[in-house]
Amino acid sequence: MPKILVTGGLGYIGSHTVVELHKQGFEVIIVDDLSNTSLDVLERVNKITNSSINYVNLDLKNIEATKIFISENNDIDGVIHFAASKAVGESVENPLKYYTNNLFSLTNLLNELKDLNKEINFIFSSSATVYGNPEIVPITESEPIKKAESPYGNTKQIGEEIIKDLVYSNSNFKAISLRYFNPIGAHSSAMIGELPIGVPQNLVPFITQTAIGLRKELTVFGNDYPTSDGSCLRDYIHVMDLAKAHIKSLYKLINNEDKSYYDTFNIGTGKGTSVLELIKCFENVTENKLNFKIGDRREGDVAECFADVSKANKILNWKSELSIKDSLLSSWNWEKNINNEKLQ
Ligand code: WQD
Repeated sequence: MPKILVTGGLGYIGSHTVVELHKQGFEVIIVDDLSNTSLDVLERVNKITNSSINYVNLDLKNIEATKIFISENNDIDGVIHFAASKAVGESVENPLKYYTNNLFSLTNLLNELKDLNKEINFIFSSSATVYGNPEIVPITESEPIKKAESPYGNTKQIGEEIIKDLVYSNSNFKAISLRYFNPIGAHSSAMIGELPIGVPQNLVPFITQTAIGLRKELTVFGNDYPTSDGSCLRDYIHVMDLAKAHIKSLYKLINNEDKSYYDTFNIGTGKGTSVLELIKCFENVTENKLNFKIGDRREGDVAECFADVSKANKILNWKSELSIKDSLLSSWNWEKNINNEKLQ
């Protein structure tokens, strides 16, 4: 089976994708600099997969260390590149951190891969943020890319461009950029999931932390948007469905005859769910009453953002399978599990 390098493989989406890659029989090697995760995740992934996955602590900004790592692993067939910083607000305050962590590390890695002079199948973690405030929903991949609203979003736009330019100039590279919508949920074992550091910025970890008593109250950011119930619509996609989209993309690349294949795909459910609908669903599925209030709009939020996923359906033969209910239940089980562990 092909050998796949997973950068940022101990992060939220990375760890779930490693589990799925292992399940499908791929050989996996993880690199991660542990800047936003810990070695504990590796232990958990090893338990779930009942194996010992190869892991190297590597900061991809380190030119020398990356060179040595790639030369020692010159038999890799594919790369799934998750390693990046991802907090939109922080990127506004500290843009250079984002340009260095997300783009310098990318060019450094690509330079070393290029020097291998062998076929490399590359998957890039992109984001729906590349669309900014979309003119039409559901959003198709041909929606014009507008000026990014944050340095984080800009690194995803530029990252896509860098990879596309490399593919068109070098017949050894084939690549796919996956534009994720809102990843939520956790592995069914409840042994891995999203682990925000500090106060969660994203909705679902804030909901589960409020329900378990770590936060007093959730604030719904605005109920005066032009949507059916006034709260924002997003496309919440289960992280295991997202993980599977990477496997389908790998197959698409590996089996592709076109030596300079590059494409972008939206990865979402295709359905918009409002903040209030999500809260209601959480309350029903977990039999919890959530303490929440309606607050002001959050700066930078768009009213509606959900995907047209027909391109991924058709070309990658991928479709999300799990429901919002499944996602929320798995997030809740994960929250309960990590809190139980803390108490022990
Ligand atoms: C979802 C909805 C909020 C918190 C962000 C990034 C994006 C992507 C995914 C990486 C919105 C509302 C939230 C709260 C709330 N990440 N909300 N109360 O903003 O759609 O996307 O994460 O690529 O780049 O921008 O996700 O989870 O923050 O918010 O009412 O306490 O929940 O207003 O409508 P968002 P989110």
